[in-house]
Amino acid sequence: MSALPDFPELRFPNGIDAQAFLVRYWQRQPLLMRQALPDFENPLPSDELAGLACEPDVESRIILERAEQGPWQVQHGPFDSERFATLPPSHWTLLVQDVDKHIPEIGALLERFDFLPRWRIDDLMVSHAEDQGSVGPHVDDYDVFLIQAEGRRRWRITTAPEQPLDLIPDLEIRILQQFQASQEWLLEPGDILYLPPGVPHWGIAEGPCQTWSVGLRAPAWRELADDWLAQVADRFTPPGRWQDRSLTPPLDPAELDQDSIKAMRSRIESGIATAGADAFAAWLGSWLTEPKLNLELESRQPSWAEVEVIAALKASQRFERDGRSRLLFAAPVAADAQASLFANGQHHSLSAELLPLLSLLANRQTLELEQVGSWLRDPAARRLITDLFNAGHYWLPEGKEP
Ligand code: SIN
Ligand code: CO
Repeated sequence: MSALPDFPELRFPNGIDAQAFLVRYWQRQPLLMRQALPDFENPLPSDELAGLACEPDVESRIILERAEQGPWQVQHGPFDSERFATLPPSHWTLLVQDVDKHIPEIGALLERFDFLPRWRIDDLMVSHAEDQGSVGPHVDDYDVFLIQAEGRRRWRITTAPEQPLDLIPDLEIRILQQFQASQEWLLEPGDILYLPPGVPHWGIAEGPCQTWSVGLRAPAWRELADDWLAQVADRFTPPGRWQDRSLTPPLDPAELDQDSIKAMRSRIESGIATAGADAFAAWLGSWLTEPKLNLELESRQPSWAEVEVIAALKASQRFERDGRSRLLFAAPVAADAQASLFANGQHHSLSAELLPLLSLLANRQTLELEQVGSWLRDPAARRLITDLFNAGHYWLPEGKEP
């Protein structure tokens, strides 16, 4: 990256603002946003993206169309740097996930999407395609903002209800067997196409191009229930097992009697009822900030004492947040309850007086002494900053690490 990117403010078209976008388009219908990021200059050269795809903790794929071996080939990274020299001159795409976390300066673009709650944003995926490269016509389960970062890509979409959604069988990627576009646009740098979930789309590069996808996250009820109920089972289910000291001979030994059914059910449901709103909120925040395995932070070894961390903050004036740090905060669920900070799956329970600090920490990529200075008188705030620092959320600015 040549210089620190300074991303333009996001502009909605036709005089609409974020509020109107959410009411009219969000989760409802596609919106083409011409020059939504005016004068967008791509800060990420494609060879740097290819370099990222060679690193062990980076999730990447190359999708090749019409290679001799079959219609759609998927290869998973990390790649050898020589791999890129052997690719054909057209019809392929390199896709790199979580670029926001690997290059936090690029991740700063997500601040332009602050009209959405941060927990709803999954990642920034960046793709480089050579001429005619595409990942085929497909449907995504999530909302996506497709930002044209460099070069041109022709997007075709269909909103026709009769569009069949059958997939080409036996492929590793989900590609629609048939696709009949109802609208198409050629996107230029700075243009954005917003698509709600479930809209079939197909973007084909016209010449080499780079596309940034801001992908949203919408947990499936099933995944939430699976994990929450496992928590309830672990933490709130009464100990022991079935007992029936007052058993009398059954009328019919083959019958599963109503009393046993009711007793079993009420014991299990009492566990769910015991887990209160605070336990649910604590679990949800931890679940939502839990990183993927390849995005875990490295904790500081050996850990620093609180006085050392605070002295380092005072000396360097600021800490930089690791791109993989995911912080969310929550207000107390009731007047007498604690506030929460969720940090990569860890739950910190804190006094509600600390809420402004929690918001500051969760919102900023840089922890400025100037902004947090007055909080450092509070022992709980010092403890929290020390814990986050030792867990790997914060680094000293470049050149200041001992
Ligand atoms: C791409 O960047 O090539 C694909 C993005 C998408 O269709 O979701
Ligand atoms: Co897509």
